[in-house]
Amino acid sequence: MGPVTASAPGKCILFGEHAVVYGQPAVAVAIEQRISVKIETLASGSETWKIDGMEFDPMRHPHVQALRNRLWQPSQGAPNLSIQITGDIPPASGLGSSAALSVAASAALRTARGRWFNQKEGQQTNHWSEGYSSYFDTDEVYSTIEKEFDSFRKGDDGNAVRYAIGENTVDVDECALLGHAVEAAAQGGRASPMDASTCAHGGIILLSDQVETDEQFLYSRRLTTPEGERLWHLHSIELPPTTEQVFLVIGNTGVYAPTAQQVAKVAAILHANPARKKEIETIGVIARRGIQSLKDGDYPAVGRAMTENQIMLQGLGVSCPELENLIRAAAPTSLGAKLTGAGGGGCMVALTTNPKATSEAIELAGGRTLISTFGNGGLTIEEAENLPLWATERDVGAQ
Ligand code: MEV
Repeated sequence: MGPVTASAPGKCILFGEHAVVYGQPAVAVAIEQRISVKIETLASGSETWKIDGMEFDPMRHPHVQALRNRLWQPSQGAPNLSIQITGDIPPASGLGSSAALSVAASAALRTARGRWFNQKEGQQTNHWSEGYSSYFDTDEVYSTIEKEFDSFRKGDDGNAVRYAIGENTVDVDECALLGHAVEAAAQGGRASPMDASTCAHGGIILLSDQVETDEQFLYSRRLTTPEGERLWHLHSIELPPTTEQVFLVIGNTGVYAPTAQQVAKVAAILHANPARKKEIETIGVIARRGIQSLKDGDYPAVGRAMTENQIMLQGLGVSCPELENLIRAAAPTSLGAKLTGAGGGGCMVALTTNPKATSEAIELAGGRTLISTFGNGGLTIEEAENLPLWATERDVGAQ
């Protein structure tokens, strides 16, 4: 049955990576490069899930495993799936490939599974009978206990009355929340919601330690990390119109750099020397200045803030010679450049009005480049056929 296909963009962090894990402000933009997740049911009798034609290995795909526990429980009769993952976001390179995968996969699973609602047509979103939302108590979505979740819940008026299937049952908040939960599980409990929310909503996402009254507020997220409680307020921001077109040129070092290791490295540095928390706060100050410049449309100032942010990241020990080589190469033709994502390898980003020259300089220095504009579209359902892919007798009776 199926197929159902959903896609989500990668992300590029302009300011604030790592510091955002400790509650400091940060900004990320959705890039043009995307990941698509296509799901189909396997013939009955197949014993495991398949990913890209190979037997599903939960160790290799922890994000998919965590989503299966939350949305597609085999113990409740969910059929085995074949999943195909395609796209042009290089993995483990700081561009949000795992967040894009998680967001797209959760949207595909929800489309394929459908959802129960508590109330009648026209009064839906806050009245689900099942699912995960910022409006509900979200503790259970973050739980790392290896148990299968029962997301069924009763709303104010008691009973689940309506079952619906298809893309209208997808909720961007739910996909972003699930994306954050599975990233947190994969990163030892330390993850900001930045990657998942940018890949889900698209555009430009601002995380702050306070609700910013001038910006479009999306929701708040709370997470208990090994270092304590964190609270982020997420917003979508619009840029002022500008006559000068600016681009992001992303340079990939090709050095494999898993986020979990880099995040753990920063945690160990801060644990060993708590006074270095000051550096995290300084990144927050630079990010705030950069965000203001972005909103003013002052791109030379945005570039300067990016370069200052890089100096702090370098001091924190999350840059590497390969990244610095590409950043140096980009400097003469760009407004500013820094690593983007977790660092230790992966990608750098340069802000430039001359993408051709910047891209050539990075390539000459040995990097592979991608060019993107700012703030691309978010989560999209590409196709949804032969639904539902999994329905119980109760679901079918209620349609
Ligand atoms: C990874 O893309 C960004 C980090 O700040 C981690 C996170 O925000 O969860 C390094």
